[in-house]
Amino acid sequence: MKVLLVGGGAREHALAWKLTADDPSVELISAPGNPGIAEHGRCVPTRATDVAGLVQLARRERPHLAIIGPEAPLAAGLADALREHGVLTFGPGAAAARIESSKAFAKQLMLDAGVPTAQAGRYVRPEDAKRAARSFGAPVVIKASGLAAGKGVVIARTLGEAEQAIDAMLVGHSFGEAGNEILVEEFMDGEEMSLFALTDGRHVVPMLPAQDHKRLLTGDTGPNTGGMGAYAPLSIATPALVDDVVERVMRPTLRALRDAGTPFSGLLYAGLMVASDGSSPRVVEFNCRFGDPETEALLPLLAEPLLPRLLGVAQSEMDETPLRWSGRHAVTTVVAASGYPETPRLGDSIALPAVRADVHVFHAGTRRADDGRLVTAGGRVFAVTAVADTLADAQRSSIRSAGGIEFAGSQYRADIAWREIERHAGAA
Ligand code: AMP
Ligand code: GLY
Repeated sequence: MKVLLVGGGAREHALAWKLTADDPSVELISAPGNPGIAEHGRCVPTRATDVAGLVQLARRERPHLAIIGPEAPLAAGLADALREHGVLTFGPGAAAARIESSKAFAKQLMLDAGVPTAQAGRYVRPEDAKRAARSFGAPVVIKASGLAAGKGVVIARTLGEAEQAIDAMLVGHSFGEAGNEILVEEFMDGEEMSLFALTDGRHVVPMLPAQDHKRLLTGDTGPNTGGMGAYAPLSIATPALVDDVVERVMRPTLRALRDAGTPFSGLLYAGLMVASDGSSPRVVEFNCRFGDPETEALLPLLAEPLLPRLLGVAQSEMDETPLRWSGRHAVTTVVAASGYPETPRLGDSIALPAVRADVHVFHAGTRRADDGRLVTAGGRVFAVTAVADTLADAQRSSIRSAGGIEFAGSQYRADIAWREIERHAGAA
């Protein structure tokens, strides 16, 4: 079985590890991959957004399945292009990927389909957006509609901050074209959770709920990042709550996409806000692919092979047999470069210690220098997952292993999963 894996971050490293750990006979080709992925397969220096180059690569290599990791190639139509050339592909086409690439599209779809989410309006004129912000009152959320690498969202604590954000996006073009249209949105209170579902557009198989930590600093403070860590499972996400999300969020959203003539196939990621009053979770955002770093926490807990499931999705031959999980706990701590997220410093030499069997060091932003040294090459450098029988042990082990990775100015949070640890302490 030959698999083409598109992408080169820790999410793709986790996928590469899982696919080849399940079945060592899998032949993996990764574009562009990274030094961690290179331990599981062959890396080809074609960029993930080079649609024409990837189509050429697929025509040459004839993989049984292509798996597309990041959102940018999905939004650019890579899945459509591969399918046109007869390549079986895991990931939605560009039209369905709009569920992530256009927040305005996603919001309209949810409102039309009755999916629980925050009230919002879409605006291109600053004065209309400011009027909407005043009518919601502070706090209020201002979002660039297009893809902005998770950074196009401002939670405005005051109306002054809201007006500044509106002007920055619509007048100052601080997010480029992604901010030519913005959403002004009701602020939702609660705790966030990520729920992923494998789907062929009709059948839905949810994964374990997970929680990521988007803020840079301890206690979920500081600037937003691409994600500083994640853990699973999540005790607030009871089986009944997961069922509720499948029925009220996933199924109606997939039905609406089918009705629009743009069925979704791949992994549908619902970012949800869970209120403390027991009401149904509401959607914060959808993504059209595996989440990062949640995937790095989830895959080491999956107690069955992944590839047959991905093939089932891609071939539209899936059923709703639940996934099997190990029953253990995973904590993923991201090790980031100094200066991340604003101006990460790159090119520092890395020393990697040996780790125990229950620890996975997934490469996010690394590369080999000409002399073979491993050096930093991105804001997030590693995602370090530890698996253990208790959450506290997984956290301790993840912190210890993250701390053992040496490069100049490395930074990581030593409190990933803190909400859950506090809940456990409270229950004990
Ligand atoms: P997004 O890119 O839409 O996921 O937004 C980034 C982050 O902003 C989310 O993970 C939430 O923490 C926060 N956020 C977005 N929308 C809302 C909202 N309506 N209410 C509260 N927080 C929000
Ligand atoms: N974990 C956030 C994301 O993948 O967008």
